[in-house]
Amino acid sequence: MESNILMFVFHIFLFFQLRPSNAQDLIRAGYYDCSEQHNIKVSEINSSLFTHLINGFAAVNSTTYQLSLLSSEKCFSIFTDTVKQKSPSVITLLSIGNRNGYHSTLVSMISNAFCRKSFIDSSIQVARLYGFQGLDFFWRYPNTKSDMFNMGILLEEWRAAIQLEAKNSSHSELIFTAGVYYSTSTPSGSTYSVNSIGQYLDWVHVVASEYSIPGENNFTGVNAALYDPAGVENTDYGIREWINAGLSANKLVLLLPFYGNEWMLLNSKDNSIGAPAAGPANKTGNEFLTYKEIKDEIERRGPNVQLSIFKVRRI
Ligand SMILES: *[C@@H]1O[C@H](CO)[C@@H](O)[C@H](O)[C@H]1NC(C)=O
Ligand SMILES: *[C@@H]1O[C@H](CO)[C@@H](O)[C@H](O)[C@H]1NC(C)=O
Ligand SMILES: *[C@@H]1O[C@H](CO)[C@@H](O)[C@H](O)[C@H]1NC(C)=O
Ligand SMILES: *[C@@H]1O[C@H](CO)[C@@H](O)[C@H](O)[C@H]1NC(C)=O
Ligand SMILES: *[C@@H]1O[C@H](CO)[C@@H](O)[C@H](O)[C@H]1NC(C)=O
Repeated sequence: MESNILMFVFHIFLFFQLRPSNAQDLIRAGYYDCSEQHNIKVSEINSSLFTHLINGFAAVNSTTYQLSLLSSEKCFSIFTDTVKQKSPSVITLLSIGNRNGYHSTLVSMISNAFCRKSFIDSSIQVARLYGFQGLDFFWRYPNTKSDMFNMGILLEEWRAAIQLEAKNSSHSELIFTAGVYYSTSTPSGSTYSVNSIGQYLDWVHVVASEYSIPGENNFTGVNAALYDPAGVENTDYGIREWINAGLSANKLVLLLPFYGNEWMLLNSKDNSIGAPAAGPANKTGNEFLTYKEIKDEIERRGPNVQLSIFKVRRI
């Protein structure tokens, strides 16, 4: 699933919370990735569209297990102030994870109490340093039974540290969220500790997309199918799994991808869903088009442009 991780690193996402208890509770959040160069600038985000903006993705140092902002420190440091200029009420969260190659670091970190503490303390410190009001853990994805068990312990200790820090400072408690797979079992078949997630997190961002990927499927497919009567790779199925496993619906925030996939079609005239293809349209580049690229394309070609044009334009 490494290719999935790559795909995800790049865009603004919008989230909508399922079944809010009232209109004020509706979460309209967006992700912004400081490491994606094709992204819009932080100053171009229209903050008034959002209740929460989530800034990713902090890395974890494999020696110290402290947070590392790598070369994006400037972007993280200006994020909160910049987005609040347009909308002072928008709430910002710092997201950790979602980076290629960090999986083994996270596995080591969660398996050792000392490393977990170093990680947790550092996450709170960095969030406060740059004015974030919350923390988001975006590990795609814990694989094994022991990963799932240890992640439960991490969440418990992390929440306790967040509570303690708030008691011991003038700040209000940090919001605490995570990004999770669309269903309760990750691709390797291990199941999240749903009880811990419900108990310690304010909510989860469900990655309800990437059901069909150019690098893995030789036919075009739907990125974020809401339903698929023929299979389990769809949002309806995944959300039902979460709710059936006991997670309250008001802790589920649905993530919508704001990017499109690009396949190399075998026949440029056959550009329907399910058309034969030979992998990504651009083998050396991204497998997908960013929101900005799609928008630019629509501006160039006019509002009636068919989405399928994007899939064939590089043939
Ligand atoms: C930002 O979003 C608000 C709320 O939808 C809208 O009224 C405004 O026109 C947008 N501003 C820009 C520059 O797009
Ligand atoms: C991790 O931390 C160590 C010790 O502070 C430092 O020497 C190293 O350069 C860091 N690694 C990365 C990739 O930042
Ligand atoms: C509480 O805050 C004080 C002063 O900021 C600090 O020295 C101390 O380590 C903190 N204690 C805990 C448990 O975080
Ligand atoms: C897709 O097609 C390409 C070219 O024909 C081939 O190299 C690749 O192995 C195929 N991938 C899958 C997942 O079938
Ligand atoms: C493919 O992607 C690479 C890397 O992003 C880019 O330099 C190149 O121009 C792209 N090729 C086409 C045909 O778009």
